[in-house]
Amino acid sequence: MSAGKPSILVTGGAGYIGSHTVLALKQAGYEVVILDNLVYGHRDLVEQVLQVELIAGDTSDRSLLDHLFQSRNFAAVMHFSAYAYVGESVTDPAKYYRNNVLGTLTLLESMLAASINKFVFSSTCATYGVPNFIPITEDHPQNPINPYGATKLMVERILTDFDVAYNFKSVRFRYFNAAGANPQGLLGEDHDPETHLIPLVLQTALGKREAISIFGTDYPTPDGTCVRDYIHVNDLADAHILGLEYLLNGGESEVFNLGNGNGFSVREVIAAAEDVTGMVIPVEECDRRPGDPPALIGTSEKARKILNWQPQYPGIKDIVSHAWQWHQSRHK
Ligand code: UFG
Repeated sequence: MSAGKPSILVTGGAGYIGSHTVLALKQAGYEVVILDNLVYGHRDLVEQVLQVELIAGDTSDRSLLDHLFQSRNFAAVMHFSAYAYVGESVTDPAKYYRNNVLGTLTLLESMLAASINKFVFSSTCATYGVPNFIPITEDHPQNPINPYGATKLMVERILTDFDVAYNFKSVRFRYFNAAGANPQGLLGEDHDPETHLIPLVLQTALGKREAISIFGTDYPTPDGTCVRDYIHVNDLADAHILGLEYLLNGGESEVFNLGNGNGFSVREVIAAAEDVTGMVIPVEECDRRPGDPPALIGTSEKARKILNWQPQYPGIKDIVSHAWQWHQSRHK
């Protein structure tokens, strides 16, 4: 248990980025309670690896939240829980607005009622839309091109207004492409359904898929495939601890990009996976996937300066090899 460190509520702590952050919080000595509706989260990882209290519930359940905040003494809330399939958000926006916006508003109102005013929020580079310039800075215009990005932007606006009206302090992190896994092989990325490039490439290497589809080979990029800024999930977790401590130390509300500032194309990611696995990974060239910007690369200078954040695993090879270790153990 903590050496005098406060209790933190982590919503979505049974999910991908949330679980890695819970582990980092525990290792830093914080007491952690997870609230997760387990629609996409993994109870087995919480029970076997994280070993913290798990409350199975939803952020839209106001009476559950009120009871939770009255019966415990949380210094802050870290809010990871959200639906995050960009494609599904286009076909079923109601699901996204209800969960990501209304669920978050309910959580925030319950926090206000309990006089908790420190909040770390998972936002996304999807709030920027198609970038006007690269690398993207935090003051780049935000014009999301899908409902998922719009829900995250709406919450960002709510947080800005809550600070003005209620002195509610938040750190908003705009992640670029979260990837990789716990370097010790304890946790990893396990979505169902899986839509993300690196897990799908590795599932192909494991023989669970015949080929990896390359969505678009005619983009205005050096090799014609989309370029993304992949950031190791452990580095994201570290940034969350720094963001939390910034708020606990009385910091003002802030927004930070979290990326490496390096872009890798789809073909480069596949090549890195071939290098790591020692296998030839079959590819299938397909049409573009709707809603994919050609290149998304962010600068995280602000997080480095203000939070003193220093990513430990900026290289694509580390990211892919940690993911590979996890996939091999999880999918035996
Ligand atoms: N891709 C393929 N084949 C696949 C899967 C993906 O070629 O089978 C490509 C995509 O077209 C994209 C790149 O690989 O160019 C990365 O795709 P991911 O699905 O892994 O990640 P995205 O960039 O689409 O999405 C991520 C997060 C979202 C977030 C978004 C912001 O998963 O939550 O970044 O742009 F909103």
